[in-house]
Amino acid sequence: MEKKLPIGVLASGSGSNLQSIIDHIEQGRLDADIRVVISNNPDAYAITRAQKHGIPFVIVRHQEFPDREAFDRQMAEILISCGVELVVMAGFMRVLSPLFLKTFPQRVINIHPALLPSFPGLHGQRQAFEYGVKFSGCTVHFADDGVDSGPIIIQAVVPVLETDTEDTLAERILREEHRIYPQAIQFYAEGRIEIHNRQVRIRGLKESASQVLHNPPLEGF
Ligand code: GAR
Repeated sequence: MEKKLPIGVLASGSGSNLQSIIDHIEQGRLDADIRVVISNNPDAYAITRAQKHGIPFVIVRHQEFPDREAFDRQMAEILISCGVELVVMAGFMRVLSPLFLKTFPQRVINIHPALLPSFPGLHGQRQAFEYGVKFSGCTVHFADDGVDSGPIIIQAVVPVLETDTEDTLAERILREEHRIYPQAIQFYAEGRIEIHNRQVRIRGLKESASQVLHNPPLEGF
């Protein structure tokens, strides 16, 4: 049997991305093993999801630490003791310190609900909706010292429809998050990801140059 990639998931909220990762693993479509789920929020539904699937979880309350480094050090110790190779931020609403990132160089990934580098930070879906873009989407990227700024692994493009509200757009983006996050982790598990400066390349892709999207659709042009 192939080796499973040991991952640790950091989550602060509902954990629907965590659920998607769990489901893909249980369906045998993602060669990963969730060694631990860490949350800074004791009320996070992500914790309940971990519990339901018998996945170890730890609550680390950031308020109980004197500074960000001390909080991050505690999380890093837990992740290392669980043998985690890839750290997966799934709706984790804390910025990681350089100290944490040095502990896991190019081994921390994040998902963001917008087409980065547009609309980083909080409420990416709302920012895009209010700006009036015709396409938004979601992005999985390596974490770096900035906010949502590291090298991009995969993106999904979601059209903004005239009938959309912020909520309907956010729902459609979330559905794509649930597809691209397991895919990104699987690329990593298969050892197919290479990083050259900011460019991430995936070995063995079947690419197509004909995937151009228009919104609104072209009428005869
Ligand atoms: C997701 O939409 C994720 O992209 C976003 O938080 C949500 C978590 O949902 N993350 C960020 O905005 C990070 N900048 P979930 O808890 O149901 O997975």
